[in-house]
Amino acid sequence: MDTSVVKAYRALHEAQNAISRAQTLDEALQEGLKIIIGNCAAGAGVIWYADKTAGDLLRPSFWVCSTDLTSRSHVPGEGAVGRVYQSQKAERYLTFTEGDDPWTVKDFAGIDVNAMLCVPFSSGDQLLGCIQFINKPDGSAFTTEEADVCEMMVILAGMALEDNENILPAWEPGRVVIRVRDVTREFQNGDTVTQVLKGVNLDVYEGEFLVLLGESGCGKSTLLNILGGMDHPTSGSFEVFGEEYANATQSQLTDYRRDNIGFIFQSYNLMPNLNAKQNLELIATLVDNPMSADEALEIVNLSDRKTNYPSQMSGGQQQRVSIARALMKRPRIIMADEPTAALDYTTSIEVLQVMERIVAEGTTMVMVTHNEEICRMADRVVRMRNGRMDEVTVNRRKAHATDLVW
Ligand SMILES: Nc1ncnc2c1ncn2[C@@H]1O[C@H](COP(=O)(O)OP(=O)(O)O)[C@@H](O)[C@H]1O
Ligand SMILES: [Mg+2]
Repeated sequence: MDTSVVKAYRALHEAQNAISRAQTLDEALQEGLKIIIGNCAAGAGVIWYADKTAGDLLRPSFWVCSTDLTSRSHVPGEGAVGRVYQSQKAERYLTFTEGDDPWTVKDFAGIDVNAMLCVPFSSGDQLLGCIQFINKPDGSAFTTEEADVCEMMVILAGMALEDNENILPAWEPGRVVIRVRDVTREFQNGDTVTQVLKGVNLDVYEGEFLVLLGESGCGKSTLLNILGGMDHPTSGSFEVFGEEYANATQSQLTDYRRDNIGFIFQSYNLMPNLNAKQNLELIATLVDNPMSADEALEIVNLSDRKTNYPSQMSGGQQQRVSIARALMKRPRIIMADEPTAALDYTTSIEVLQVMERIVAEGTTMVMVTHNEEICRMADRVVRMRNGRMDEVTVNRRKAHATDLVW
């Protein structure tokens, strides 16, 4: 048999297995998308969901590519995605050049498009969205077998989970607070240069709970430190409310941090000879318009531990004091680097409940973790691999801290 047909069947078989293990339609489509990307070596893949509460506006809910698509959307009929959604028919755009077809794009979020595959998906009789693949490494078109497998995959995903779930409205991004483009970071030690960030493109939205997920060493802390103004990118752009900070001076970065950012680390860094309240009051002397120590301790649920010294508190309680300390200056954004990594399950949940409350009250949160379960609490999850943003999930089904299990 033709090898491309064998390959296509293999991909379908793999997708079928993944879909049978999936718990939700999102998960089924995401796993299917990744398998298809792997098998046809597509450069990028995106799942677009029609927002039934917004005139079927198609919004990206999951993507594998190195740009941030969060704010992108298509009305039905507009662009390849909107057209395919409206016609309910799969389309395989062959390699095309500018002007070939007035309603397809040559430029897709900075990616030069040479081939595209776009397939609508539904569950039961409800049309839900579109799945899109862009570019093959050799510049060729997607094959008919690849298009067939993709169509079969979305049918399987839709059937497997047909009656199981309500499709919830999409999460809507607020305004962009931080915008990072093509950010790299190299470290030089003697003659060796280590490239840690290799071109990150990411937006942080006001009020969101953003999780940066990834294996140890992939560059999460390096990226968080740049977002928080603790470090400079080697190249690329880092904008805060539209203002460029990539080449900011130390004192400009200090102002940025002081005015906007609260940090939480894995270690609590409390002063051992000061009690909980005194640790906070120390910070109050350093910032304008601080919150009262009592209020901050109330938010982290430690009003009854004000006079305890760090040695008289559990790890989770100490971490909550350090969160209270970060809250004292009423930061717009909290950068938290593995805040629960040193804690056991029960105390981790206590800390995450506090995080949940802080986000609910309007603070933007960027949290680094390698714990997959914590992703369920996030509005968006950015999975990093080897210094790059690799996958992004926009979460419609946010879990509470108390629902998490590990
Ligand atoms: N100051 C530095 N000098 C040299 N290498 C560094 C420095 N900081 C981080 N790295 C390297 O960059 C990589 C990513 O680090 P990091 O961002 O801390 O990863 P993560 O937080 O995802 O575990 C690691 O291999 C680390 O050794
Ligand atoms: Mg780290």
